[in-house]
Amino acid sequence: MDASEIRKKFLDFQVKKGHKVIQPAPLVLEGDPTTLFTGSGMQPLLPYLLGKEHPEGKRLCDAQPSMRLQDIEDVGDPRHTTVFEMLGNWSLGDYFKREQIENFFEFLTQVVGLDPEKIYVTCFIGNEKYGIPKDTEAAKIWQEVFKKAGIEAKIAEIGSAAEGDKRGIKPGERIFFYDDHENWWSRGGGCESTPIGDPCGPDSEVFYDFGEDKQDIEKYGLAHPASDGARFMEIGNQVFMQYRRLPDGTFSELEKKNVDFGGGLERIAAAAIGSFDVFKISLMRPIIEKLEEISGKSYENNTDEMRVIADHIRGAYLLAAQGLVPSNKTQGYAMRRLVRRAILRALDLGISTNFLSEIVPIVASNYEDLPDSILTHRETALDVLQKEENAFRKTLNRGLKELGKISKNSKTLSGQDLFKLQDTYGFPLELSVEECYRQGIELTPEYKKEFDEALKEQRERSQTASKGMFKGGLEDHGEQTVKYHTATHLLLAALQKIISPDIVQRGSNTTSERTRFDFNCDHKLTPEEISAVESQVNEWISEDLPVVFDEYEKAYARDTLKAHGQFWDKYPDILKVYTIGIFDNPISREVCGGPHVEHTGVIGHFKIVKEESSAAGIRRIKAVLEN
Ligand code: ALA
Repeated sequence: MDASEIRKKFLDFQVKKGHKVIQPAPLVLEGDPTTLFTGSGMQPLLPYLLGKEHPEGKRLCDAQPSMRLQDIEDVGDPRHTTVFEMLGNWSLGDYFKREQIENFFEFLTQVVGLDPEKIYVTCFIGNEKYGIPKDTEAAKIWQEVFKKAGIEAKIAEIGSAAEGDKRGIKPGERIFFYDDHENWWSRGGGCESTPIGDPCGPDSEVFYDFGEDKQDIEKYGLAHPASDGARFMEIGNQVFMQYRRLPDGTFSELEKKNVDFGGGLERIAAAAIGSFDVFKISLMRPIIEKLEEISGKSYENNTDEMRVIADHIRGAYLLAAQGLVPSNKTQGYAMRRLVRRAILRALDLGISTNFLSEIVPIVASNYEDLPDSILTHRETALDVLQKEENAFRKTLNRGLKELGKISKNSKTLSGQDLFKLQDTYGFPLELSVEECYRQGIELTPEYKKEFDEALKEQRERSQTASKGMFKGGLEDHGEQTVKYHTATHLLLAALQKIISPDIVQRGSNTTSERTRFDFNCDHKLTPEEISAVESQVNEWISEDLPVVFDEYEKAYARDTLKAHGQFWDKYPDILKVYTIGIFDNPISREVCGGPHVEHTGVIGHFKIVKEESSAAGIRRIKAVLEN
C-alpha cells in the first residue's frame, strides 16, 4: 500500500468510526507568535482541545502537512524530515484510551496490514513532583489488545531512554514505561517544559520493529523503542490530553478529556513496505531517482545528500505553493534556508546548474491531493523557487570569484576576509571554509573567532544606524508608546481607505499618551469622516490582525510590495517593512523601524480627539487610546 492510499484509507477508516474529516490548516501560521509553522495536527485545534465546541462535532480527523524545522540538522538519517504529513484523529471530550488504542491497532494491523508481532508500545511512568500518576490503564488495554491478536505482551519498566540503552529488551517484552521525556506530550516537551495554558497529557507511542539486525549497539547502545538507531521507528503517538498547565506551574485536569492522535504518514508508509528508510516510499522515491539521474550518482553512496535535497525541496515547495516568498526574516528566511541548503548539497553531488525545474514538478505531483484552499499558489511555486535558485547561484558565483581574488593577494585568509565574503557577497561562511579546504587555501587558526567578532561589530554598527534612521517620531519604546505607534499605522491606512488613496504621512509624533499625525488633505474632515476613520481603525483592532516585519531591498519594498514610505531617497538599501493583516492583501504596509505590537487586538479603543490645520494643505489629527 503506498502513501497516498494509506492517507485515504486512514480517513475512510476514521469516518467509519464516526469521525468528520476537517480541512487541514495552512503550514504558514500568520500571527501565532509561539511558532513559525504548523508542526502537528493538534495545533490548529488548540481552542477545541481546551473546551471550545467544534462546529464539526466531537470526533475529527485530517491529514495535516506539518513542518518541524527544529529537526533540520537530523535530516540525512533514514527517518527525519522537516516536512511530513500527520494523520490525525481527535476525541473532544468523547472516547478515551480504550477506543483510541483499539482503533489504531485495528487500523495498523487490519487496514495497513502490519504484522502485530512487529508492533511495540510505550506508556507514561508518572511524575511524582507534579502528582501525575503512572498510566497503568493504557498498559492494561494494550495487553488485552495484543492478547486478542494472540500475543502475550509483557510489561517493562525502563524509566529513561538512557536506562534503556543499557538494558535493552528482555524476551516477550512489548509494553514499555518511560518518563516524561518520552511519554508526556505538550508543545514544549516534558512536564517541566509544558507551556503555561497549553493542554497536555501522558501519551502512548507506537513503534515498528525493523528487526534486530538493524541495531547498532556500538553507536546507540542496546535497541529498545525509545532508542536512537534504525531498529525501532515511532509511527504514531496517542496523547491522552487530560491536563492543562496553570500559571503557577502545576497541572489541573481538563473538564473534558481528549484524545490527540498523530501519526507520520511517511513513516507508516515506510513500515508498510518494510523499509526503515522513509526516503524509499512512493512519495520520495521518484525524487531520489531523478537526483540519481541528474547527478549520475547512486543513492546508496550519496544517501545523506539526496535525503537532505529531497526533504528540503519538498518543504520549500509546500511553502511556495502556499504563497510564501523567500526573504531575510522569519518564515521567509526559513524557506530561503531550505532552498539554499538543497542547492549546496546538490553542489556536493556535482550538480552545479539549475535543477529545481526538474525536481519541483515531481514534488508537486505528490501533493496533488492537498486541497486548493491550502495550496493557493501552486501555479507560481516553481517560478518563485527558480528565482531564488537563480539569485543564489549568482551569489555563489560572485563569492567564488571574490574568494579567488582575495586568495591571490594573500596566502592565508582571516575571519575578517570570510566575513567580508558573507557580508558583501552573501557567500556563506561554511562554503568559504569548504572551498578554501578544497583549493588548499590556508585559514588563520582563529578564523572562526575573528569572523564572530566582525559579525558582532557589524551588528552594533547597524543597530546604531537604524536607531538614528527610523526613530521618526517615537518618543520611547515603552509598551503604551508601541501601541500608539501601531495605531498610527492603522490611522494612515484608514485615512487612505476612507478619505483618499493619495494621502501620505507628512509627519508624526508618538508618545505614551497620544499620537499626533500630519497628512496631506485639501479639506477639513467632516464629523462623519472622522467617525468613519475612527470606526475603521477600531474594526481592525478588534479583528486582532497580525503585525509582522521583514527586511527587503529598497526597490522591492517600493515597487513590488508597494510599502508606504516618506523618505525613499534617504533610506538605506535594505530596509525594514511592517505589514498589518494578511501578507498578500495587507491592511497596512509601511517602511518603519518599529517596534510594533505583535497583533492589533492589544491596542485598545482608538479615539480621535482633535482634527485641525497644521500648514497649507496639511491636516493634523490627535488621537488617544482608551483601554
Ligand atoms: N500532537 C501529537 C504529536 O505531535 C500527536 O505527537
